Amino acid sequence: MNSEVEKKFKWARGLFPVTQKKRGITYLNSGSTGPLCRPAKEALEKFYDSAQFCDRNADFPAFADLDRIRRLGAKIIGARKDEVGFGFHTGFGLNLAAFGLPLKRGEEVLLSDIEFPSNVYPWLALKQKGVKAKFIRSSNGYFDIENFKKAIGKKSRVLSLSFVQFFNGFKNDMKRIGEICKDAGLYFVVDGIQGCGVEPIDVHKCRVDIFSSGGQKWLLSPQGTGIFYVRKDLQDRLITPFTSWLSVDWKLNFTDLFHYDLPLFGAARRFEMGTYPYAHVHAMATALELITSLGVRNIQKHIHGLLNLLIDYIRASGYYEIVSNIETKHRSSILAFTCPEAAKIHKILVKSKIICALREGAIRISVHLFNDKSDIKRLISVLDKFPE
Ligand SMILES: Cc1ncc(COP(=O)(O)O)c(C=O)c1O
Repeated sequence: MNSEVEKKFKWARGLFPVTQKKRGITYLNSGSTGPLCRPAKEALEKFYDSAQFCDRNADFPAFADLDRIRRLGAKIIGARKDEVGFGFHTGFGLNLAAFGLPLKRGEEVLLSDIEFPSNVYPWLALKQKGVKAKFIRSSNGYFDIENFKKAIGKKSRVLSLSFVQFFNGFKNDMKRIGEICKDAGLYFVVDGIQGCGVEPIDVHKCRVDIFSSGGQKWLLSPQGTGIFYVRKDLQDRLITPFTSWLSVDWKLNFTDLFHYDLPLFGAARRFEMGTYPYAHVHAMATALELITSLGVRNIQKHIHGLLNLLIDYIRASGYYEIVSNIETKHRSSILAFTCPEAAKIHKILVKSKIICALREGAIRISVHLFNDKSDIKRLISVLDKFPE
């Protein structure tokens, strides 16, 4: 990475209070929750300050930031602005897919058997419509493409899959899987939260039909935010059981509301639900601006560079064992490793304010744009005390 870009990452680190020395925190847990940067927190405060008085129009700035979220969200995933909407979490876009896609009784949805539950329950709920969920057997914690191909049957209509697996960081080969879906006539739905903002993806090239990501992890936004993408030519065919008064264009004129014949937006925002959480909208727009100003490719490079230090250490340690697949095309911003005392060591790490997660028996390290070498060194300094 050139020194100008490195300087930008150093500057960005300074925007995150979680990195302040006086706090003593080493935050390696964005796969659970992304911390807010100072400008995002200031955006929240600014809104709440004015919300005490309500003497200024809050709609105009909020709608401008919603527009910014759609534009920047689209940039992050390689979509067009009119294909992206503001959702409240990952589950929002996944429910949109489950209940909006034209699925008929007797048809089936394919799921991996190691999905995060957000990407399972909405599909299981289709039982009421006579649509079945069929689970594809994973191999060693990875989505198995051969098993997927074998599972496709005459009634299969959808594959819904994570971009990156939450517990081991396995990044699925989206392009290949998208091609298989296209050839088999399956809708391709993606739970994008564990990679969105840090791992580049081009939803068009990967032939994704619907993509959804909460903002609360790698998008460094507050809980209750998210983005979803619906491919342009699918939008008219998606019939959801919900519609909002903000699915149509009032042109911000809320003084003349007895119009029940307005057409839905000709864009993904027709699926959004009003009224929006304005404070969080402002904070999310601020966070997405930071992410796109650094660039997802640069962020990925920065993160993988830091994780390489940890990988080298683990390989040399003779005690820890990498659980994640670290092949270039499958690695992500999450690295999981294990050892005989993983649960105990995880407890000690958290007690030392090295915040990371324990998932499926492995220590899960999530590195983000605000981390630097000192964070990895501190982690290693504690890991190095074991075995005792
Ligand atoms: C892969 C994955 N999907 C979804 C979620 C969360 O779903 P939601 O944003 O709907 O709460 C998580 C973690 O919280 C996750 O790891």
